[in-house]
Amino acid sequence: MVRNTQVSLCGIKLKNPVMPASGVYGFGGEYRDFYDPNILGAVVLKGTTARPRFGNPTPRVAECTSGMLNSVGLQNPGIDAVISQELPRLREFYHGPVIANISGFSVEEYASCCGKIDGLVDIIEVNISCPNVERGGMGFGTDPELAAEVTRAAKGATAKTPVFVKLSPNVADITEIGIACQEAGADGLTLINTLLGMRIDIRTKTPVLANKIGGFSGSAIFPVALRMVYEVSRVVHIPVIGVGGISKAEDVIEMMMAGATAVQVGSENLRDPMACYRIIEKLPNLMEKLNIENLVDIINIAE
Ligand code: SIN
Repeated sequence: MVRNTQVSLCGIKLKNPVMPASGVYGFGGEYRDFYDPNILGAVVLKGTTARPRFGNPTPRVAECTSGMLNSVGLQNPGIDAVISQELPRLREFYHGPVIANISGFSVEEYASCCGKIDGLVDIIEVNISCPNVERGGMGFGTDPELAAEVTRAAKGATAKTPVFVKLSPNVADITEIGIACQEAGADGLTLINTLLGMRIDIRTKTPVLANKIGGFSGSAIFPVALRMVYEVSRVVHIPVIGVGGISKAEDVIEMMMAGATAVQVGSENLRDPMACYRIIEKLPNLMEKLNIENLVDIINIAE
């Protein structure tokens, strides 16, 4: 029997639910030597801001058991270069859905970037959860009123492209933020971003990251992400993209059963550049074993 892996996000058809998370896939060209990106459900672009950013001082990454820390600091060429250079370059070899990830340091910056890229991509993911910048970023994602304000501004600046809001796990109750974004007009939610963490070099007695604190990701955070997707999916009616620690096809099934319509694979791509390919290739076999004919049938099925 043919197994149907197709899912749909706000009417946008994805051939399968698997896409790289923002930040691990650059602007698409970086993985071309490994596999054809057209196998992906979607491509998610590196976080983009109003102006070009050099990012944080190095070291920006640190290894951890079953995961990693990053404090990249939103390095990117800026929204104008993404629109004039990166998007056209990606479109030369990739023909599927594209998700742009937008960060800002003020509500106005979010709105301006969303307005500029409206209609040029399939989904705008508004990132209110970056833990690696002093102003903005996660500051907007840990307060329901600010989260709603950014969402309203992003929706107000766009007319064509659905807006998803990417939530932070560094809150007491993520459902509160999810509901606030939904009420402010979000078309969908992406969760979770990284968990705040740090490492200390015991020989030098100094933090490993130049920025001291960073975002923890990797397979260790999968149960946390799953729990949050489960909680949020039970209180919102907009689609949820699940992200956090996914490293294998089984994790995709579990995340969808918790409520995700699609999933993003993050740091596993940095450990194994073939991660998305491997997961997508395995999905039909796993569906057969689990007697799943259509992937959409398992979304939110867990009690
Ligand atoms: C970064 O560029 O610092 C990571 C982005 C994020 O965690 O949202």
